[in-house]
This record gives sequence, structure tokens and C-alpha cells, in this order.
Amino acid sequence: SSFQAQLKNNLSKLGVPKEVLEFVFSFAGDPEDDHPRIPEAKGSAKIIGGEPFFIPLYKLYQKYGGIFKLTFGPKSFIIVSDPSIAKHILKNNPKAYSKGILAEILEFVMGKGLIPADGEIWRVRRRAIVPALHQKFVAAMFGLFGEATDRLIKKLDAAALDGEDVEMESLFSRLTLDVIGKAVFNYEFDSLKVDTGIVEAVYTVLREAEDRSVAPIPFWEIPIWKDISPQLKKVNKALKLVNETLDGLIAICKKMVEEEELQFHEEYMNEQDPSILHFLLASGDDVTSKQLRDDLMTLLIAGHETSAAVLTWTFYLLSKEPSVLAKLRDEVDSVLGDRFPTVEDMKKLKYTTRVINESLRLYPQPPVLIRRSLEDDVLGEGEDIFISVWNLHRSPKHWEEADKFNPERWPLDGPNPNETNQNFSYLPFGGGPRKCVGDMFATFETVVAVAMLVRRFDFQLALGAPPVKMTTGATIHTTEGLNMTFTRRKIAPIVPTPTLYSNAEVKSDEVSSAIS
Ligand code: HEM
Repeated sequence: SSFQAQLKNNLSKLGVPKEVLEFVFSFAGDPEDDHPRIPEAKGSAKIIGGEPFFIPLYKLYQKYGGIFKLTFGPKSFIIVSDPSIAKHILKNNPKAYSKGILAEILEFVMGKGLIPADGEIWRVRRRAIVPALHQKFVAAMFGLFGEATDRLIKKLDAAALDGEDVEMESLFSRLTLDVIGKAVFNYEFDSLKVDTGIVEAVYTVLREAEDRSVAPIPFWEIPIWKDISPQLKKVNKALKLVNETLDGLIAICKKMVEEEELQFHEEYMNEQDPSILHFLLASGDDVTSKQLRDDLMTLLIAGHETSAAVLTWTFYLLSKEPSVLAKLRDEVDSVLGDRFPTVEDMKKLKYTTRVINESLRLYPQPPVLIRRSLEDDVLGEGEDIFISVWNLHRSPKHWEEADKFNPERWPLDGPNPNETNQNFSYLPFGGGPRKCVGDMFATFETVVAVAMLVRRFDFQLALGAPPVKMTTGATIHTTEGLNMTFTRRKIAPIVPTPTLYSNAEVKSDEVSSAIS
């Protein structure tokens, strides 16, 4: 009301800080406001304490419904758990929203890379990068997925022989790091075998990004502290090493492109180096080296922790549901025999794909999507918005036995579930123009790894290991690792295909029919 506005104005003149005023007045509704009334919940350390933050958000969703405002003193967030509101923000009017807090947090590592970027920069970079992940590229990656998984298999074989338990979360993280390094900039991290400085540097940077995304205050901005903190010094050193490595790879790749005869065309791919970087440089992508580095770093991070988390939670779920594992094995045994999977197999590995679809429903990575309203669309301007994918994916409104791991919930002869055919109650890869560019890549990568591993091993949660609990950074992690016992299944070993990119010859129409 005008009385409120006047009071607020006067208090402000007296020097009461804006944050305090907003906090005080957040309790009083404005009767002249024609916005929908959004229920309000007051947050406290008690609500959040001890659990990953998306769990209390689920409890609040049950109490307040598909949209509510959560206030912490002067800060507030709008929590969206309703499919049609999510669809509006992501698909119908995405121009009215930016990445907000997320962009601020990730700036130090991703700069203006594709995930944090907004507006014109995002539009230009998205247009340059999407064509690089064409179907022939994705098909060529199967050799890479198989080889990397085979290295993990050797490692697990050795542990099985020694009767040692294995911590799978960190092994999956290394598997997907090896894959994404090669796919994005043709770099062999070989992190399943060796722990070089660069691997450690990548992890230092990643951990910092995750710490920052759950920090209650931006500790990295505190004056003086930011200059003397040993942690921040370590992070800066690691960033420097990663950046120098990327600059080196860009230089090498530029030289290769200059010397090659190949003409650039739509499904261009260099067989020796099918990487995304090579495609971008060959396409004549007109971009500063800083922007290119930001994009490479973004792809590295986006494609690494997410896929690793999917594999971790899939194996956890499989260890709890032997009937699903049995059915999965039947399919893998009959489709693959002793071969590495190829793109043609994807059409036949239907149940394996459902296992990944369902794992992504129960453990969405990331569990919330972050936006900020740039204009007064429907929720008011400058609001920080969390779309809780966790709530959408676990809501009893949309799902029968929502907490049950049940890959059969989508018929095998039906389409693969996605945000469109599930009406935004399922959005494992987001939706609208900012949807994940790596959805196909990631689905195939995880299907290959799961298929090869369940074919080769029996596994269970390690006896006496701590219970598997969730914690969160950008993706959902375990608190104390996924400790498992792997033993060899009594079957013939998988025979590796001869060369890394031996599947590169697949024609793109085969790919389209495989994935349709
Ligand atoms: C965006 C999930 C793998 C690259 C996204 C978004 C989600 C997502 C939910 C939307 C974020 C938002 O709207 O705020 C996943 C999951 C993956 C995965 C669950 C693994 C299973 C990958 C891979 C790559 C990748 C392998 C790269 C090869 C990206 C990029 C964006 C993105 C660049 C930003 C797109 C844009 O803003 O235009 N991902 N992703 N992701 N993802 Fe993925």
C-alpha cells in the first residue's frame, strides 16, 4: 500500500539498509500488487542443516505447493516445482530469464562459457557449438566410450582378483573425465591409470566450483581473505595450470587444422582428432581465445561430473534392485555378446536405456535449475528462481510409486521419455533453447558403461561400508563414497575392437534410425 511505501521510503532516508527494509516488508503483502499471491516460507539454518538442500525443499513443496517463496532474512528465492511454470520459464519465455546466481558463482572457472552466458554471447556461442556435436561425431565416440570402460574393467578385474573393495564414485569420475577430455579437446587425461598434476588441478577447480555453489556467503569475495587464503591460492594455481594446458591444446589443434587438406562441411570430422575443439577451429569459428577456453572448460565440467553422478547412482540403484539387474543382464547378454557396443546397438539396448532414464528421474543432475527474472514476466523482476527438478521427478502427482526404481514405467516399445513427451514433469536435460547440448552423448556414454560393466561383473555394496547418503554440490554426490565389492561373472571376456575410432565410419542415416 502507499502507507507501506511511504514508511519504507522514510526509514530508508533514516539510513536503514535496503536489505533490512526488504526483509521487514517481505512479511506485508502489497494489496495493489496484481501478481499471483505466492505462498511464503521462512527459511532457517534449521531447515537446511545437515541434509542436502533439495530435501527440505521437497518437504516445503508438499506443504506449500508448486510455487512458493523461501526467504532467508533479506534473501529470497522462488521455488518452482510445477511442470507448467517450469515450462513457461524454460520454453515459452526463456528470454525473460538469465542464469543469475549460477553465472556469478561459475564466473571464475567458466567465464562466459555456454552454461553461464546470457543474451547475445550465449546465442552466438550456442550456434557455434551445437553443430560440433553432430550425429557422426556422437557415433565416432562409441570407440572412445568402449575403450575407457575397458580400462575401468581392467582396474576392477585387478581389485576383484585381490579381493579388494572399490570406491566407485571416484572411479566413475575418472572414467568420464577420460572420455570428456578426449571428446572435447583430444586430450588423454588417462586418469584411471595415473594421477598427473593436471588431473589433480582439474579436481581442485571442480571441487572449488561445487563448494562455491553451496556456500552460504561468497567467501571468495571477502577482502584480504581472498588474497591470503591458502585454499584460494591453490585454486588459482590449479586454474593457471588448466588454462595453460587448454591454451597449449588450442595451439596444437590450430596447427593441425592449418596443415590439413580436409574441406569443412556440415558433418565435418577429422578421423585422427574428431574432437569438438577441432570442429570449432576448422569451422573458422571467429572467437577470442579466452572465449574458446571458457567454452572448452564449460564442456569439460558439464560433461564430466554429470555423467559420473549418473553412473554412481545407477550402480547404487542396481545393487538395491536385483530384479532390474537380472533383466538388464538378459538384454545386454543377448544384444552384445562379446563385443564393444556400437551405435547400432542403441536401438536394441532398450531396457538399458530405460535404466538410465529412470536413474536420471530419481537422481537428476543437477537437482535444481537456477534462473533470475530479467523483467516482470509473471513472477516479478530480479527474482532468483530455483526450478526443483528433484521435486518434479519425485512428485506423487506425476508418478506412481514415485520413489521406486522402476525402469518399466516407460514401455520399451514407446518413445524415450523426454521433457516434451512427459510434459515437463521429467526434465533430466532441461528444456527449451538452453537444453543440454550433450544429452545424446551422455545417454550413449552411460548406456555403454553400464552395459559393459554388468556383463562382466557381479557387484554389491561392500559389507561394513558406511551407508550411502547424499550430499550436494552442483550434482548429487555420496557423503562417503560408493563402496562396492566387484567379482567376475563366469562368462567369456569382451573382445576389444581394434582401434579407438573404429566406429567412425558409421553413416549418419544409421544414427538417425538408431536414435529415433
Ligand atoms: C546444460 C544435464 C551431460 C553440455 C544442461 C542442462 C542440464 C544438463 C539439466 C540445463 C541446465 C539449465 O537449463 O540450467 C546433463 C546431464 C548430463 C549432461 C544429466 C549427463 C548425464 C553433458 C555433456 C555435455 C554437456 C556430456 C557436453 C558434451 C552441456 C552444456 C549445457 C548443458 C554446454 C548448457 C547449454 C546452454 O545453456 O545453452 N545439461 N548434461 N552436458 N549441458 Fe548437459
